[in-house]
Amino acid sequence: MVKVTVCGAAGGIGQPLSLLLKLNQNVDELSLFDVVNVPGVGADLSHICSDSKTESFVPSSKEDKSALANSLKGSDLVIIPAGVPRKPGMTRDDLFNINASIVRDLAQGIAENAPKAFVLIISNPVNSTVPIVAETLKKNGVFNPQKLFGVTTLDIVRANTFISQLYAKETKPSDFNINVIGGHSGETIVPLYSLGNSKSYYEKLSQDDQKALIHRVQFGGDEVVQAKNGAGSATLSMAYAGYRLAESILKSFKESSVVECTFLNLDESIKGAKEAKQLINGLDFFSLPVKLGVNGIEEVHYQVLQQISDDEKKLLQVAIDQLTKNIEKGVAFIKN
Ligand code: NAI
Repeated sequence: MVKVTVCGAAGGIGQPLSLLLKLNQNVDELSLFDVVNVPGVGADLSHICSDSKTESFVPSSKEDKSALANSLKGSDLVIIPAGVPRKPGMTRDDLFNINASIVRDLAQGIAENAPKAFVLIISNPVNSTVPIVAETLKKNGVFNPQKLFGVTTLDIVRANTFISQLYAKETKPSDFNINVIGGHSGETIVPLYSLGNSKSYYEKLSQDDQKALIHRVQFGGDEVVQAKNGAGSATLSMAYAGYRLAESILKSFKESSVVECTFLNLDESIKGAKEAKQLINGLDFFSLPVKLGVNGIEEVHYQVLQQISDDEKKLLQVAIDQLTKNIEKGVAFIKN
């Protein structure tokens, strides 16, 4: 029996993400938590004739902790898209003041009620919210670095789509699976087009077009924020991306060759994490391709860091400098 809980399930991402999870045959129980509107979302989804059971939980007051506890109990996977999204002109870091405490409180709930669950963090700024969750779980003595995932999958999804659009006659988005490393905001996002089957297409582009493509992946979220004009940020593409990572994790319970990029804690107990850290100035958190398995992240594919081009090395340095501050901010929020 697999139980998946979505925290923030009534939101722009939470609703379509929950719909996709409701359709997944590997999910037996879908638990929906939000501070508003979730009973309606739950009732709606519960009419779908897929085999999983749907339950929804909303606190009766600010002090009520039982709804969160009941939603989380017995969860194998918890996905967190709770919090506020960006408006035009905002960076992801601008969301820190509101989202940091939301994510901390949900992580505390996980520590108390589902300490063994896989935890996927969508709430921004991911570069800081993932360290917040790690520190909260550590404080409670239940942190397992193999099971904490910062969801950067939308950057991979965009990287695949955007290069394919440049070669629309010859390629489809599904031809690509670009490794995107670093973090999840602006210049911390480093797409590695120089590796794999994108290399030949990427190298055919002029230098200006290469720069424009990288910039589009790094700031693709802004296109959606501007187009929505105050009504939020990416929700549908994000639900797809979050679902893709969740689906891969669920698949990895049965198959042993699933690889995804994720923003993880490079704890040295994970194979390849020590080598990765040495190549990125000792950062504790970073997004890299990882091999998934029943126990979570089984191996970090640090080798990509040794294969990147000179231009990508420059992008990496910028990413490392910014990430250092983002990570410190998240860690300090819990420690101080
Ligand atoms: P939204 O405002 O539509 O939905 C957020 C939901 O969270 C709301 O239903 C709200 O009631 C709920 N919520 C607030 N406090 C909560 C709490 N304490 N417990 C449970 N639920 C709570 O926002 P949207 O568009 O769904 O975005 C959610 C987050 O995802 C934002 O932080 C956004 O920046 C982030 N995001 C992340 C991306 C990524 O690639 N990782 C991409 C796009 C957005």
